[in-house]
Order: sequence, then structure tokens, then C-alpha cells
Amino acid sequence: MKTPGATEFVPEGADLTQLRRAACDCRGCDLYRHATQTVFGAGPETADVVLIGEQPGDQEDVVGQPFVGPAGRLLDRALAEVDIDRDAVYLTNAVKHFKFVERGKRRIHKQPGRTEVVACSAWLTAELGLVRPRLVVCLGAIAAQAVLGASFKVSTRRGQVIDATDYRVIATVHPSSVLRAPDRAAAYEAFVADLRTVRAQLGKSAAAR
Ligand code: URA
Ligand code: SF4
Repeated sequence: MKTPGATEFVPEGADLTQLRRAACDCRGCDLYRHATQTVFGAGPETADVVLIGEQPGDQEDVVGQPFVGPAGRLLDRALAEVDIDRDAVYLTNAVKHFKFVERGKRRIHKQPGRTEVVACSAWLTAELGLVRPRLVVCLGAIAAQAVLGASFKVSTRRGQVIDATDYRVIATVHPSSVLRAPDRAAAYEAFVADLRTVRAQLGKSAAAR
């Protein structure tokens, strides 16, 4: 029987560049069919901290880089505010292809299902295995559940420092949820407060300005 998911596309013993190249040809689930391209993680292989989002959005799909659209701009602003250097962190997503529905000319983001998250997890595992961060930051429930299991609740455990085997994990909300929040200012402040906890964990890391 064919192995479901990305596993068979992930080359063994690859470095990050080889991994990124191989991910371009992944057909581990159906999402590659309609998306423009694979959006792999970006940032230094030596990063102390890995930030994980959900999946590329419309602009990321076109550009091929994570967090370059509206959510990315909010994330940039929040990281700058807490003195974390975006260029020194490794940024990636739980799912590497954009999932959407078409409404006229617009492509509307659709949340990935558990099957797609599980299918794509081999790439995330490989990235974490190479970067070997001290700290993993999960942006939103999809990322948090990919790392901490399907029963993890961001609403009750956001901002807590969680000891996993190979690294510590802090989960917070997704920057898109801040953009959609009824009280955007309060949501932004709560997001920044979680990132301050991240910053405090970084100590003298290169990501800490
Ligand atoms: N949202 C995400 O989760 N990831 C991106 O790369 C962009 C938007
Ligand atoms: Fe492969 Fe992930 Fe894209 Fe699915 S979403 S095709 S598993 S890279």
C-alpha cells in the first residue's frame, strides 16, 4: 500500500536546501494540485527559534515565501515591538501549500483539515530535525496541534512555556485572528504579551535584539 502523506518525498540525510528543493515536488496530499507552489520554511538553519504558522496565504502562494502578506506584516510589527529579529528566526508553516476556495476572482483561505496537517508533518519534522531550535512558537491552533497533539487548546494554554522533549514550546494565536478580532487593539496587545514571553526565553540568542 502507498504511504499516505509527504514521507516518501522527504529525502533522507538532506540539508535544508535539498529539503526545500524536494518539497517543490511533493504530492503528499491534494493541495499541490491547485496552489501555485510549495511555500517552504525560510530563515537560518542555525536559528534558536522556529515560528510555525498554519499554511501560506494568497500572497505567500504567489511569492513563494512564508508570512509576506497581511498576517506577515502584523507579525513583523509585533516581533519588532518585542525586539525579536525576524531575520534570525526560522519561519515555516504546518502545511506547505495554500488551501482555498475561489469566489469570483478572489481566493478565500480555507483551513487545512487534520488529514492535510498529518500528511504535511513529515516536512515540519524534517525542518525541526535540521534546525534543532531551543524554542518553537506555534501561531494558532493548527500549528499548536501539529506540534502538541490534536487535543491542545490555544485558548486556555496560550503564552505558557511547555517543555517538549527536544525544545520548549510556546503557543499563541495566529496573527490573522488579530486582524479579524472585534477588538483589534486588545487582541494585538495580548499577542504581543505572548511574544514577550518568547523574547524572555531567548536570553542571549541571535534572535534577541
Ligand atoms: N498565514 C500563515 O499561517 N502562514 C503564512 O505564511 C502566511 C499567513
Ligand atoms: Fe505535500 Fe504538504 Fe503540499 Fe500536501 S500540503 S502536497 S503534504 S507539501
